Amino acid sequence: MIIAVDGPAASGKGTIARALASHYRLPYLDTGLLYRAVAANVARHDLDPAIEADAVAACDFDEALLDDPALRDDETGKRASIVSAHPLVRAALFHRQRRFANQPGGAVLDGRDIGTVIAPEADAKLFVKATPTIRARRRHSELRERGSNVSMDKVLADIRARDLRDSMRSSAPLVAANDAALLDTSFLSIEAALKRAIELVERQV
Ligand code: C5P
Repeated sequence: MIIAVDGPAASGKGTIARALASHYRLPYLDTGLLYRAVAANVARHDLDPAIEADAVAACDFDEALLDDPALRDDETGKRASIVSAHPLVRAALFHRQRRFANQPGGAVLDGRDIGTVIAPEADAKLFVKATPTIRARRRHSELRERGSNVSMDKVLADIRARDLRDSMRSSAPLVAANDAALLDTSFLSIEAALKRAIELVERQV
């Protein structure tokens, strides 16, 4: 069984995808981490994320980079959304994600284009969303807990900028697949969102 979970930043898709993976005992891939690793590799080699050839050169990153907690930083997320707009970067990461999705027994993947590009044949597809303000509030408290004193206004502006970049790019833009079930987590507790996610998957498989 392949489960595709897509949605914008801080929508809750990561939490939901991880919980589904443990519920169905399936391997899980956070595909955002791959783009974040490319972004971090770009920075490490002093390359320009906006230049496609630079970003492509950074796709050959050291696997150990995927365990670096600094990948979770907002600055890396922002750079990831710049490198991920290049079609050749998406092409370089495509097969790795396809292989993961197609392993025997299935898998859960989360990202922006899993249900549309990476695994359009997925058995279950969720598109997780929440209002920008609520997503910014979640991201803000997460960053605060990690010791940052960034303002709520800045977090909201960053979320809006990232949404815009991810939705407007021509290559695999952030969009719900036609056959994806929508899950709005704006006013749901984590427990309620997980319960709903399982119901929506059960309805599709
Ligand atoms: O999900 P996360 O916030 O970690 O993703 C970081 C960035 O990587 C996103 O803003 C998006 O631009 C890009 N991304 C993507 N396709 C995916 C996963 C992430 O373009 N499947």
